[in-house]
Amino acid sequence: MLKEQNVKLLKKISSSFSDVSWNKSFVYRPVAGRTFIFTLCVGIVFGFTFGYVVLISSTEDLRRLVLFPASFGGGHISDRHSHLDQDIDIGNVDGSVGAHSHDEEFHKDEDIVAREMAAKVRVLCWVMTSPTNHEKKARHVKATWGPRCNILLFMSSANDTNLPTVALPVGEGRNHLWEKTKSAFSYVFAHYYHQADWFMKADDDTYVIVENLRYMLADYNTSEPIYFGCRFKPYVKQGYMSGGAGYVLSKEALRRFVVEGIPDGTKCRQDGDGAEDVEIGKCLERVGVQAMDTRDSLGRGRFFPFVPEHHLIPGHSDPNFWYWKFIYYPSPEGMQCCSDSAISFHYVPPNMMYVMDYLIYHLRPYGINHMVHHQHGVGGGEQRINPTTIVESGKY
Ligand SMILES: *[C@@H]1O[C@H](CO)[C@@H](O)[C@H](O)[C@H]1NC(C)=O
Ligand SMILES: *[C@@H]1O[C@H](CO)[C@@H](O)[C@H](O)[C@H]1NC(C)=O
Repeated sequence: MLKEQNVKLLKKISSSFSDVSWNKSFVYRPVAGRTFIFTLCVGIVFGFTFGYVVLISSTEDLRRLVLFPASFGGGHISDRHSHLDQDIDIGNVDGSVGAHSHDEEFHKDEDIVAREMAAKVRVLCWVMTSPTNHEKKARHVKATWGPRCNILLFMSSANDTNLPTVALPVGEGRNHLWEKTKSAFSYVFAHYYHQADWFMKADDDTYVIVENLRYMLADYNTSEPIYFGCRFKPYVKQGYMSGGAGYVLSKEALRRFVVEGIPDGTKCRQDGDGAEDVEIGKCLERVGVQAMDTRDSLGRGRFFPFVPEHHLIPGHSDPNFWYWKFIYYPSPEGMQCCSDSAISFHYVPPNMMYVMDYLIYHLRPYGINHMVHHQHGVGGGEQRINPTTIVESGKY
């Protein structure tokens, strides 16, 4: 809508500009009539006005894109579970954005290590979505980070052959999220238990850097009952993982959750209601699954419940914002917030998914290579395994 207006305005501007240049040809005439001066003034005024209008409207677009969701400390994301009822009505992409080929000269063979890793650390990702979001959000996960997982599943309550989805026999809406989570992990356990090593749940507005997830997980044993994510303090003794930033269960954690937890009323909440992330956190604790520290060796976080901007820019959030009370580990604002091997961000609108894909997987400062290190998390040592120069991955 706005775009159409802009195009029209641009056409008007270009026609008013051509008026001006048409008028300019008269400047060199010895006599410039009153009509000429009048037309020139009208041309300039109109040109300027239209230019201004276009600038304002596109800046407005930009502002909405960049600042969204600007209200870190208030507005619609102050309730950490409200987002699923909110429609992100900006950042919608029409049609296909297209892609770069991943073996272009600038990127050729840079993903050798990532591809080796993808064969060794197999990650299944399932994305929580809903019928209204198949087209609006889930489609863009499929067009960006989703296919970098070894197995990608979209969990919904309706069939959609385009994505495709798994149609779970559950209701939709916030008070069905826990039901959906149990149903989704049960489905994954029944059909994919032997086909992956790690099992990640993400939302349809979560952006995941899958290679960094594998890099972190490579240090762990999936036969141990452990799970990973952005760790929050309240409600559960060992804390629980934020639902929006996504969380990852080991094979043993998945088995315990589905086999020992879900059917047992003393371990897991039996109805479908309740905050999905808190409920799974309680349940996993009761079946002996350990909540892990996902910070890197410098103590910087890797899973994030907001877009990068909100963590990177100091003072973005109100000191009373729930996040500061929830977060398990000290979480500095500014560049110190975020690991160079960050794994996930939340509330990423579709537009931003493509922007992040471009910035992370394509844009390269010429002459800067990425050395592959083997780096443990907090408390672990650091050891370089292979000083080759590789960077990232294409899609597998
Ligand atoms: C989705 O499709 C499958 C297979 O065709 C079918 O068994 C199932 O009942 C469908 N589910 C819904 C919710 O329409
Ligand atoms: C992984 O953990 C399981 C269960 O604790 C153990 O039996 C196995 O030896 C471990 N594997 C490695 C490679 O450490």
